[in-house]
Order: sequence, then structure tokens, then C-alpha cells
Amino acid sequence: MADNPGLTFERLPHPAPTDAAQRVAALANPGFGTVFSDHMVVIDWEEGKGWHNATIGPRVPLSLDPATAVLHYAQEIFEGLKAYKQDDGALALFRPEANARRFNASARRLAMPDLPEELFVESVRLLVETDRDWFPTVDGGSLYMRPFMIASEAFLGVRPAKKYKYLVIASPAGNYFKSGAPAVSIWVSRDYSRAAPGGTGAAKCGGNYAASLVPQAEAIERGHDQVVFLDAEEHKWIEELGGMNLFFVFDDGRIVTPPLSGTILPGITRDSLLTLAREAGLDVHEERYSLEQWRADAASGKLIETFACGTAAVVTPVGKLAGHDGEVLIGSGGPGQLTQKFRDRLVGIPRGTVEDKHGWVMKLG
Ligand SMILES: Cc1ncc(COP(=O)(O)O)c(C=O)c1O
Repeated sequence: MADNPGLTFERLPHPAPTDAAQRVAALANPGFGTVFSDHMVVIDWEEGKGWHNATIGPRVPLSLDPATAVLHYAQEIFEGLKAYKQDDGALALFRPEANARRFNASARRLAMPDLPEELFVESVRLLVETDRDWFPTVDGGSLYMRPFMIASEAFLGVRPAKKYKYLVIASPAGNYFKSGAPAVSIWVSRDYSRAAPGGTGAAKCGGNYAASLVPQAEAIERGHDQVVFLDAEEHKWIEELGGMNLFFVFDDGRIVTPPLSGTILPGITRDSLLTLAREAGLDVHEERYSLEQWRADAASGKLIETFACGTAAVVTPVGKLAGHDGEVLIGSGGPGQLTQKFRDRLVGIPRGTVEDKHGWVMKLG
């Protein structure tokens, strides 16, 4: 269904852009997800017509019929990627075509139309360039881009909608961790699964995140930072956190990450780390790792580091594993050496301070 790739964007004038002083104040300490830039991209899709009506214009509230399908059956997908301002002022995206591919994989799982990859990348590029004054001024800040697609047909039957809207919004984001990355404590969910075989775990759809809120709240309530999910069949194998993939580092040099079994999100950070680790000659394995083994290896000292990875926080050390059976420290309980090394490289590549050997960085105008 990849049609109309050659769409051109109509520019809609903004009648009242944010006042410069107000924008500058917001950019000094944007936090995450609460400050938004002035513009947005919208493209419509309709059965028989394909993608049409591509615009970049003022960011305004959507007006939806109360029967709009997404409000009832959650036919919705999204992506998350960061735009960076490098030291020389150049704007850059990190592997946006990988987000475009994953967006379409999610679309297929949710019975939604494919968006041509070049249109996805172009829409993100256009919004970054249009809102180039919205980069945070804090050290380590970025412009977080949120492309998403919703079923926009007003119809209450349970079937794939015949109309969709694709949008991109941008949100200035501060440095996730103000100084370095503190080790997080994670809680193993015993009562909840994130995704079952045959389900939507590998898709980036809103429903997965709605389902993770109760177990995440349980982790916080118990004094931990994040929840880790086990597989839904045996409740034995480590899958991922609510919004990050996991890596384990052993004293014999082995590195393990859970395989893309269809129940975890294929993280772009995960994929980039696998490439960097293999290239460095490290002994990397995509294989299942059980909770029981994780506990035993952390206790014996065989496991020396664990880290989580994803776009938002890049690479985050995991210092403690907790569950109904008690707690265990991982390594020293603080950031490990390899974790720090990977973090420095992955933070540096898109910012232009570490060489981009793989052509991962797309420089914008
Ligand atoms: C469930 C889940 N797993 C893993 C990730 C990490 O993916 P990425 O590295 O592409 O940001 C994310 C974040 O997008 C996520 O939501």
C-alpha cells in the first residue's frame, strides 16, 4: 500500500508563533514531553486515494468525531527519535530510516497503511528545519520527534479503518540525566506480562504502553525505577523494560541480549550497540537469559554489568534487580566500564564528537 511517495508539503502560515522570550524561557529547562514546538506535519490517507493532503502548519488541537476508530479500538502507532544540534550548529538525525522501517512494521501489525519511508524521513526533516529555533539550550538537550498514525474514520465496527492521519510533532527535551547516568533499580513483574507470542510486542503501538502502566506503577510504589517483563509463556525469560532493551555483560567477556522473538521491540539503540560491540570484537550473543540465571550470576559476580538502552536515555546502567524473592546488586551497583564506553560512543556519534563510521547520522540543512 506504499502509494503517492512523491507528495509535496503545503506550508500553512502560522498566525501567532510563540513569543521569542517565552520560547527562550521554555528551552532553558524543558524536561521531557511537556513543551512543544510551533508546527506539526499532517498527512491524510484514505482507501482508494492513498496518502494525500500533506501539510506543515501550526501545531493546533485535533478535532475528532467521538466515533473516531482510534478512540475505541486503539488502532494507533508511533515512533520516537531525536534531532540534535551539533557544536558547529548543524542539525542531525540518528538513523531516521530505521525508524521509518519500524513504523511500517508496526503499521502492518496494526492493519494500517504503509507510509513510504522517504515520506517519513522527509516529514521529520521538514519539521526539524521549520522549528530549528526550538532546540533546548541546556547541555545534552535535543528535539524529540514524535511521528504517529491514528485511525481517523468515524466508524464503530471492528475492522481496519478506511481513513488515517499521520502526524509529526516535536518536543524540546532536556538531558535525560543531568550529570552522567545514575544506575537504576529494576523490579521484576510477576503478575503482568508486556506481550504474548503472536501479540503486538514487536510493534510500537499505544496499547502496549497502556498495558505497562500498572506494572510500572508497581515498580515505582516499591521504590524502584523501572519494571522488567518476563516472557508470557513460561514467566522465566527476561524480555525488556517498559521502554528499553537490556544487555548483560559477563566476567568472561560475553555480552548477551534477549533475541528479537516477536515479543520485544526491536530497538534501534539495541541494533546500534550490537553493531558497535561486534565491530569491537566482543563476544556478543542474542540469546535467551532467565531471571533465575540473572539472579545467580549477579550474586556470584559472574555478571559484572547490566544496562538498558533506548532513544530517550541512550544507555542506562542497571545497578539493582529486585522482585518478590528479594534484591541483588549487579556489579558494584553503579555504572560499569563497558556501559560507560557504549554510552559515550552512542551519545557522541549523533552529536558529531565521535566518528560516524556507519553513516548513521543524517545531517540536515
Ligand atoms: C518497549 C520499548 N523497548 C525498547 C525501546 C528502545 O528502542 P529504541 O532504541 O529504538 O529507542 C523502546 C523505545 O522506543 C521501547 O518503547
